[in-house]
Amino acid sequence: MGPADGERNGSITRILVDDHRRLERLLESAIDRGGRVERKSYDGFRAGLLRHIGIEEKILLPAALRQRGGEPLPIAAKLRLDHGAIAALLMPTPTSRVLATLHSVLEKHNLLEEGPEGLYYTCDTLLGEDIDQLVIRLRAAPEVTVLPCSDTPAVLGAVRRAVERAGFELPSDFPG
Ligand SMILES: [Fe+2]
Ligand SMILES: [Fe+2]
Repeated sequence: MGPADGERNGSITRILVDDHRRLERLLESAIDRGGRVERKSYDGFRAGLLRHIGIEEKILLPAALRQRGGEPLPIAAKLRLDHGAIAALLMPTPTSRVLATLHSVLEKHNLLEEGPEGLYYTCDTLLGEDIDQLVIRLRAAPEVTVLPCSDTPAVLGAVRRAVERAGFELPSDFPG
């Protein structure tokens, strides 16, 4: 038995918007007053954000595509580029500059997803049982394997390319 209709309306938006706010709080607490990165909060943020992106890429974008009869959301390509940039920024050692860049990328990215006609709204317009199934699948989505941070020239080059491809700017002193 699924949730009552009244609870169901807007449930994808509510779950994922709550997750955005939870991740923002973790990111904020990852930077201490001295500008140093607090690793425990950062690790929680990183693992949570990778799981969140996995849900969007593997469950929500395909559901939105289905809902639109195979016509991708106008913002789908941009969302995927943003996810590439965000995942890349989670690879190097988190410095305060890397975290500031993540913060500004996420601010714009989350607006696109939360907005009218955005990814979440489109999924919330799926019909009946489809939306119940979607909620079950996204609640059951597993944690993802998080690799150790790496600052090799290859990783830093990949970060630069992914961020620029998505149309964002890195701090001018970003290495690599
Ligand atoms: Fe996203
Ligand atoms: Fe999101």
